[in-house]
Amino acid sequence: MDLVVVKTIIRIVLDILSTSFITKYDNLPSIIFRFMMWCKRLNRHVTMEHIDREGYRFSYFSRGKPGSQRSILMLHGFSVNKDVWLDTLKHFPQDLHVVCVDMPGHGNTTRFLQESYTAAAQAKRIHQFVEWTGLNKNPFHLVGMSMGGMVAGLYAADYPSEVCALSLLCPAGLRYPTESEFFMRLKELMFSKDPSDSTLVSVNEKEGEKLLQLCLYDPSFVKTQLLKGYLDDQRPHKMFFVNCFLDISSAQSRYNLHDNMRRIQAPTQIIWGRHDKVFDPSGTDILATAIPNSQVHLLEKCGHFIALERPRKSAHLLLEFHNSFCDNTRNEKAA
Ligand SMILES: *[C@@H]1O[C@H](CO)[C@@H](O)[C@H](O)[C@H]1NC(C)=O
Repeated sequence: MDLVVVKTIIRIVLDILSTSFITKYDNLPSIIFRFMMWCKRLNRHVTMEHIDREGYRFSYFSRGKPGSQRSILMLHGFSVNKDVWLDTLKHFPQDLHVVCVDMPGHGNTTRFLQESYTAAAQAKRIHQFVEWTGLNKNPFHLVGMSMGGMVAGLYAADYPSEVCALSLLCPAGLRYPTESEFFMRLKELMFSKDPSDSTLVSVNEKEGEKLLQLCLYDPSFVKTQLLKGYLDDQRPHKMFFVNCFLDISSAQSRYNLHDNMRRIQAPTQIIWGRHDKVFDPSGTDILATAIPNSQVHLLEKCGHFIALERPRKSAHLLLEFHNSFCDNTRNEKAA
């Protein structure tokens, strides 16, 4: 069948699902969530890949080939997976080489319970991935959101020669004067029950939903259900998420970006939702003061989940930044 026909059919099916079926049910069942992601991957023409070395697997997808432009590596946040970037990819040119990897323990990347998931340990793991795939043959543009932003910042500090540009989207790991409401409630939810209980979000659906709504500026039904879909996918791995959360919020990891941001040399772009209730947007000032070559973008009508709430705007900002710092041809001409 013609690809255009296939796409049209998929779009119609999605429309029917999202307008009639989904709104009738309280829960977006896991199977529909998976189907939607499968369709999105198909629509974005990404290639699903994995690499196995030393008994460890990294799962990732990519699009385009390394060429005149630098590659982009994208790191997602806590408790989601590489699929959160699919809406961003919609606004990138098809030939731009983009790699989205499942973070350690997330998605289909190996999940070892006994391994450390501090920011530093994760940055080391990501460096393994970069070496194994040869992504660092040339310096690349590193993008990270939330937990992935903290890891990306540390990576840029630890491996300066590999990163030609850095984009931090509402990264974790900074010192705020007060703990956000979100974190206090997340902690309560995660530790209020027996950790072997497989529900990541509270039994009390309302509480869980309220927590998800704190992540969004506009907690529309579809967006809230999407976030729930990611969480539902991970219910069986609650023990891992508790461990991971404890590691990234441990004393040695919690402010790791803050304590290392002065070592970041790459030109840096800082993007934050003005209405972020998970990490306060005042983080922009903390970073901009410490990183000499940096620029700040505050997004209006945007909460914590930038990739979900403002995919087009954030993609355009990423691309603009990429084009000014990562164009090989331009660099050669300048040399
Ligand atoms: C993980 O692998 C399964 C089986 O191949 C696949 O259906 C699923 O989409 C993958 N999930 C992610 C996040 O890559």
